[in-house]
Amino acid sequence: MLAISKGNLFLRCECQRQTLLRRFSAVQRNRFQTAWLRHEKHHLFSPLAEKKLWTEESAQNPPEYDFQAMKSNDRQIHDAILSLEKHGLILLRNCGTEGNFVLELANLMAAGPYPSVFGPAVAPVISMQSGHYSDFIYTANEILLHTDLPVYRNVPPVLVMHSIETADWGGESLALDGFLAAEQLRQADPSAFNLLCEIPIPFRGTGNEYVDFYLEAWHPIIRTGKLGQLVQLCFNNSRAPRIALKHKDRLGDWYKAFYRLAHQIQRESNPLTFKRLLTPGSAIVVDNHRVLHGRSQMRLDNGKRRVLNTIYFDWDGVRAKGRTLEKKLS
Ligand SMILES: [Fe+2]
Repeated sequence: MLAISKGNLFLRCECQRQTLLRRFSAVQRNRFQTAWLRHEKHHLFSPLAEKKLWTEESAQNPPEYDFQAMKSNDRQIHDAILSLEKHGLILLRNCGTEGNFVLELANLMAAGPYPSVFGPAVAPVISMQSGHYSDFIYTANEILLHTDLPVYRNVPPVLVMHSIETADWGGESLALDGFLAAEQLRQADPSAFNLLCEIPIPFRGTGNEYVDFYLEAWHPIIRTGKLGQLVQLCFNNSRAPRIALKHKDRLGDWYKAFYRLAHQIQRESNPLTFKRLLTPGSAIVVDNHRVLHGRSQMRLDNGKRRVLNTIYFDWDGVRAKGRTLEKKLS
């Protein structure tokens, strides 16, 4: 029996046979089966599957699914969701280049997109050889590994990139397990890791593609949970031009720590970097809080374009769909 009271507020918990009775003042009475409580103790806040850090083998051969087969097979959708949770990246083939594949996928994997700061709009990324843009993604330049949109306070968690048109040369998609890079840093230099967790830095994005925008949000490069587990990586050089001067006594150490992580992520010919040309009709889905993505340089002569349709959705929707299917299939 547990009883706490203050003034006319009180909390009383009592066990009777296999049931816990809880009473909170006059406003709430609950009954919980103890077997259910034991079960929930292990399930509350847990992800759908344990995350597996990449190896050279898994970096080059991520889980792959046929989208047409997935559409009529709940088990495959469930499997794809678990793979995304475990690996942070899945490949989809046979998605077509017509119609609205990304919205179809959102309905399949995320219980449908819903209006939020990330959409439901589909954003086509049309890259050309030359032009005047506020972002490199619209050019033929190489794009270094990064996570998308740390300029938002709520960074979009899941990113889909669907290939519609490719370049004559180059333009391979790149990806890297940011959690693996962060864990390697934690092992090699714990104080550098802690510094990147402690100091939030401003990420800023301005431009006028589609609409005028000026976004800014503050995040540490690495975010961990209460148990020290990795939760999120915000890594985007082009969006983080400065560090706040209020930390000027720690600037040198912070930049050294950042350089160590950046070197691990950007080093050339890293066998842990996934590299693949996404042919038209194929797509890649990444956990944008964990996996960094980029693109190799390309050539787009004679008006040629590279077109990639993108959409973001929330982990909440994906996990909700995963749990619903788990229940249905068990
Ligand atoms: Fe990106």
